[in-house]
Amino acid sequence: MPSELSRPIGIFDSGVGGLTVLKALRERLPAEALVYLGDTARLPYGTKSAATVSHYAVQAARALVATGIKALVVADNTSSAHALETLRAEFPGLPVIGVIEPGATAAGHASARGRIVVIATESTVEAGIYPHAVLNSRPGARVTQRACPLFVAMVEEGMTDGPIAEMVARHYLDPLFAQAPEGEAGDCLLLGCTHFPALMPLLRRVVGNGVAIVDSATTTARAVDALLEHRGLARPPLCAGGVRYLATDAPDRFARVAAEFVPWHIGAGEVELIDLG
Ligand code: DGL
Repeated sequence: MPSELSRPIGIFDSGVGGLTVLKALRERLPAEALVYLGDTARLPYGTKSAATVSHYAVQAARALVATGIKALVVADNTSSAHALETLRAEFPGLPVIGVIEPGATAAGHASARGRIVVIATESTVEAGIYPHAVLNSRPGARVTQRACPLFVAMVEEGMTDGPIAEMVARHYLDPLFAQAPEGEAGDCLLLGCTHFPALMPLLRRVVGNGVAIVDSATTTARAVDALLEHRGLARPPLCAGGVRYLATDAPDRFARVAAEFVPWHIGAGEVELIDLG
């Protein structure tokens, strides 16, 4: 196999949430080698300024580029919102794929009446990229954004359901769904943060069965697949894939919280500690 193809795909997130994207990539591209970097020392990105997020994203990408990656997946919505163009300029020739456009396209297709609610971190909401991306895929849609910062902390605490989690979810979402004025409720909930898929059963209960819930993991994996094929970078199907895990702090915590996101076991010993300094 030409060495260009055998190189890994790099994926980064501020923490473990991007493992939802890694999982979708493993399912879709089992022959590919993947390197996942969680910047756990500096999580959350979602409360930080655009400049800081871009700076962190470039540092994370540099560490992955140093491992010899053939493509970069920005599995962090906040970095995708603020840093995609900076990353493309910084690493010319390296395919860089974010999660916002794939998620927005999926929501545009899944929404019955074009009433789309995007939930995300504060920083992603402030960037205003999601409404723009959704309108590109679904002109005329009504897009409402809601920052849900407590959801990130809840998932990090392993509090993905139960009375407190439900109270928080209802606080954020009931005004846009169950208690929305007649005819105004959303018909599609777009999870614009990598942590939120871990709350899926709770979110389903809170918004009800009639609402489409969309996350960007599957659609991002499809976009990566198409891009590798297009650039002639895909590995032959029968290759053995694999995952290498990198974190900037607390590998044991990474491994523990990862259990909320992927069905396979990640041992703390499998997570390499790196410094992005
Ligand atoms: N990974 C972030 C995102 O998708 C959520 C966690 C954070 O705030 O760093 O926006």
